[in-house]
Parts: sequence; C-alpha cells; structure tokens
Amino acid sequence: MQAAWTSDDEYIVDRLVHSDDALKNALSANTAADLPPHDVAPNQGKLLHIFARMIRARRVLEIGTLGGYSTIWLARALPEGGKVVTLEADAAHAKVAQLNIEGAGLANVVELHVAPALESLARLPAEEPFDLVFIDADKQNNPAYLEWALRLSRSGTVIIGDNVVRDGAITDPDSVDPRVQGVRRFFDMIADEPRLTATALQTVGSKGWDGFMIAIVNDHV
Ligand code: SAH
Ligand code: DHB
Ligand code: MG
Repeated sequence: MQAAWTSDDEYIVDRLVHSDDALKNALSANTAADLPPHDVAPNQGKLLHIFARMIRARRVLEIGTLGGYSTIWLARALPEGGKVVTLEADAAHAKVAQLNIEGAGLANVVELHVAPALESLARLPAEEPFDLVFIDADKQNNPAYLEWALRLSRSGTVIIGDNVVRDGAITDPDSVDPRVQGVRRFFDMIADEPRLTATALQTVGSKGWDGFMIAIVNDHV
C-alpha cells in the first residue's frame, strides 16, 4: 500500500500544497546534512499552518525542530509580531534548522533553543501562554511535554502531538519500546485530563501509517 499512499500524497501536494523555494531548499538541506527523514510531509505541514491560522495563533511552541521544516510552515501562519519558540536537543539538527529558518526569512519570527526540551521548558518565561503547541520530539517524554504544554497554555490553546500511531504499534500494551509506552501514557493522561477535549486521527501517506493527536484546552470549569 505504501506506493499508492505516496503517489496519492504526490497528487495532493502537486494540486494543493505549492511549496516554494524556501520549503524545498529546507528539505534538500536536511537530506544533504543526513538528518533523519522525520519532517512532517508537505501536506501535513500545511495542515499545521492552517490549524494555526484557524485559531489566529500568535505564539507557537514546537518541541522537536529537526531541520525546521514544520517550524517554517507554522511561522508562516503567524501575524506580524508572532513568534515560534522551537526546542531542539541535537546541535547538528539545530544548525541546519537555523540556516533553513534564515533562508526562509524567518529569523526574526523563530526562536530556536538548543538543549534537551525539558531543560528549555523549565527556563521559558511563563507569563505569556502559547496559542498552539506542537509536540514532536522524543516520544518517551510525551507525558512530561503534555504537562508543560498545559502549564504554558490558556483556555483555547490547541495541543497537537505527532506520531501517535506508528504503524499501529501504540495499540500493543506489551510493547517494550519506550516511545510506544510514552505515547500510550500520553493518551492515558489526555483521557483523564478534564482540562482537555481531544481526539486523534490516523493518517496514511508519504510518511507511512501514523497519526496526530489534537486537543483543545477547555474554558475553566
Ligand atoms: N518537527 C520536525 C520533526 C522533528 S523530528 C518537522 O516536522 O520538521 C524529532 C526531533 O526531536 C529530532 O530533531 C530530535 O533530535 C529532537 N529531539 C529528540 N529528543 C529531544 C529532546 N529531549 N529535546 C529536544 N529535542 C529532542
Ligand atoms: C520518528 C520521529 C518523528 O517525529 C517522525 O515524524 C517520524 C519518525 C522517529 O523517531 O522514528
Ligand atoms: Mg514527527
């Protein structure tokens, strides 16, 4: 099925996603630097962009930058004065990302913090909440990232998690993969969290079979 998923994604991207040079150059630079091919697909990047515009996001938090591909899609959704704070542990990934962000003309919109995300999160000023949080780093830490996302949010903040299906691996309760256990714990926390209204969607496409979790922070009860 993968060949069909990929060719159908190519059709969708060809018709609707019009990537410009900055986005194409970012993917080429990531490949040239041997980054893992874990960027969101172009049609997924545009979905994140549309979500950000739907809520008129001004402040976005991204956990897991890689080469900044999703960062560019998100940053382009923001109005004048908007900000993406993006967190990356790997200095080599961050270096490629910073160049890609500069190449897209977004250096003044994106603030890249190079450290393990839990360290960066503990240092972020808490006064201004984020409008949208995209969790896409080491999945074993998803439970801790969810706690931080809630701490840094307000009523109406949207929280999105990438890679919550992983070829169906997440429905195996006996999996010894700490990433699978992290995502399962993430789902359990969300299920028990009265502050969140959440769902998840499976996706197929050029990036295989996976899924997104999407939640919104409720008005305070
Ligand atoms: N959001 C990117 C893809 C991110 S891939 C995009 O769609 O374009 C996941 C990234 O998380 C990798 O670059 C990896 O180095 C980073 N990462 C892994 N563990 C991390 C940690 N503890 N803190 C911050 N980043 C981490
Ligand atoms: C992996 C991580 C991702 O964020 C992704 O989108 C795909 C794969 C991984 O660690 O294998
Ligand atoms: Mg991902």
